Amino acid sequence: MPSKGHLNLITNNSSHYDPQISELVSRMDLNEKIGQLSQFSGHDACIPDHLQKALREGCVGSILNEVDGTTIKEMQRIVVEESRLGIPLLIGRDVIHGFKTIFPIPLGQAASWSPELVESAARVAALESASCGVNWTFAPMIDISRDPRWGRIAESLGEDPYLCSVLGVAMVKGFQGDNLADVGSIAACAKHFAGYGAAESGRDYNTTNIPENELRNVYLPPFKAVAEAGVATFMASFSDLNGVPASGNEWLMKQVLREEWDYPGFVVSDWESIKQLSVHGFTANDKEAAFEAANAGIDMEMVSTTYHKHLPSLIGEGKISVSQIDSMVSKVLRLKFALGLFENPYIEADRLPALLCDEHLAVARKAATKSCVLLKNDFQILPLDANNIKSLAIIGPLADDAYEQLGTWIFDGEAQHSVTCLQAIQDAIGDRVELHYAKGIDSSRSEDQGDFAHAVQIATSSSVALMFLGEESILSGEAHCRSDIKLPGCQEQLISAIADTGTPIILVVMAGRPLTLEKIMPQADAVLYAWHPGTMGGPAIADLLFGVHSPSGKLPVTFPRTVGQIPLYYGQKNTGKPATNDSFMHMNDIPLRAAQTSLGMSATHLDTHFTPLFSFGYGLSYTTFCYQNISLSQHSIALGESLEVNVELSNIGNIDAEEVAQLYVRDLVGNVTRPVKELKGFQRVYLQAGRSRTLSFTLSSADLAFYDRKMQLRTEPGQFHLWIGGNSETELRTEFEIHNEVN
Ligand code: NOJ
Repeated sequence: MPSKGHLNLITNNSSHYDPQISELVSRMDLNEKIGQLSQFSGHDACIPDHLQKALREGCVGSILNEVDGTTIKEMQRIVVEESRLGIPLLIGRDVIHGFKTIFPIPLGQAASWSPELVESAARVAALESASCGVNWTFAPMIDISRDPRWGRIAESLGEDPYLCSVLGVAMVKGFQGDNLADVGSIAACAKHFAGYGAAESGRDYNTTNIPENELRNVYLPPFKAVAEAGVATFMASFSDLNGVPASGNEWLMKQVLREEWDYPGFVVSDWESIKQLSVHGFTANDKEAAFEAANAGIDMEMVSTTYHKHLPSLIGEGKISVSQIDSMVSKVLRLKFALGLFENPYIEADRLPALLCDEHLAVARKAATKSCVLLKNDFQILPLDANNIKSLAIIGPLADDAYEQLGTWIFDGEAQHSVTCLQAIQDAIGDRVELHYAKGIDSSRSEDQGDFAHAVQIATSSSVALMFLGEESILSGEAHCRSDIKLPGCQEQLISAIADTGTPIILVVMAGRPLTLEKIMPQADAVLYAWHPGTMGGPAIADLLFGVHSPSGKLPVTFPRTVGQIPLYYGQKNTGKPATNDSFMHMNDIPLRAAQTSLGMSATHLDTHFTPLFSFGYGLSYTTFCYQNISLSQHSIALGESLEVNVELSNIGNIDAEEVAQLYVRDLVGNVTRPVKELKGFQRVYLQAGRSRTLSFTLSSADLAFYDRKMQLRTEPGQFHLWIGGNSETELRTEFEIHNEVN
């Protein structure tokens, strides 16, 4: 688990700025205090009169969605020079997977299983956005996501609490740097606290019902990890958690976040989520909403104005105390001090690298390369050898679409900077291979098959068909959920038409979520899953297709065969009647009038296999990796002790490549039932062809702790299984036990 408190942010409630903060708060009037708790939206590079007035009166704590450097500078100048107390502004922006240089969507970055890469990408995003005046990003989104229908799965780091924690911490570290006050460091925001990803039926903003034990064991760990790592802020979720919307959820914000975790940073609401407490039916009006949110522990209100309008009367009525307001304001001010804004609120662009500079593009290319997951590669059709192919047909709506490859949440990214796959392939092969291009269909959603003929014609006359299909970016992201997650439009028909030509198909999928690909898998000879790969997606994908690098991404989320299997994730519980190959029977194989009890009687569907199409952690390489000789330093340890796990990893193919080795455990018996497998460690390693290496992992008994029936975090003595391998279905297993006694 990531180390604790490595960031230079307040690590407890008293920081060395406290004397200055108290002094400042003592000079603030109520309007100025409530101003610090209010965040307003920018207005596209202009400062309307009402906003200028509010800035001058010291009634604005933060602005979001303004990225024009000159406008930001002027706003900072107004508050610093013209307001009574000169308190600088927090400038927030959704810098989610890059600013101008766009990286793969977060789910794609998670497929790299590389904390170093995720940190570098966030660092570049911080440097670029800081050079325009942004000092606070609303990322990372660390909502555990187990429903690919949910559009925001694109913005997530996947289904697993451990992977999400490690990568979430890496992202925070990238944004915040070693010291928040350094030029180029920006504050991060852990969102959406909590449970947002469990929206019923994968419909955004929908209700979540998550039993406390599952919340603590699955949904909260990433938030706890980033809190311990020093994330500057938290954002409350829009969603209703077990009947109490997060933005008014006192248990979550006070008991868990403040009391149990001792979190010192501040909590911002989501966009108008305080006002929406009344839409939820949790409060009757804005005044009640302001009370519930402030009382629960939401320190800053995003966009809606219930605090501004109602905190004064709530204080007057004695419902909210002035000392509570002071504590909320102090948290906001503490971040402003930590960011060094009181010393210098202005942008120092000349001390920062240029936007889209070569170094940034190189990180984006590397990130896209390591994010792609090879799902299928029959007869080693990949990598392609440009010296041995006569002609290539490039087909599909996403082959040459500079915008769509960027993905969701790219407020500041621009298509003109993207290098598409078509461009990159042309560059890679020069005139060695004849290239033909047909879009086939106009967009990923189109149902119009009018242009199929051209695509079929070029496929027929080419040695290989390279198809670029998937989803446009607008089909994932906030509020963009789908009830059916197959390839949209008539893309399945397009693949069939190309398959009918007999030309081998290499399919590259760009999408914001796992798609259900079972039907089309047999038609493609190779499938590379590229997510939305960002600015440098084209060159990265071309490098993989032509073997400059071997694919090394691994799935951060399970790929179902069909929507009906959702939620489907590797860390499921065993149930009392687990599905097995022996018990499974497809409904077409059931004899007519079979006796009810003659069937398998296990946790399966009748119309699809119980396994996923691709499991968590899965991903092929151009080489073959072999794991053997798993060994433990001890097979029995006492509570409080650790053991070392060694395994020999060999690259037995003939291509140098990277592999992500994964360690899973199962706690066989628990006070509450435990998942059938849990990721507890991973390492990305480079191995030359023919080489072997021993990998070591350390596992402590504390790593096996879980929340029990009484919501106590503890490790239970007992038997454990441990696996290591290249995906979550690895069968290389050993066993150990944890006992009570010290040896
Ligand atoms: C709503 C989204 O839920 C949140 O993630 C985002 O940061 C805010 N809007 C601000 O744009």
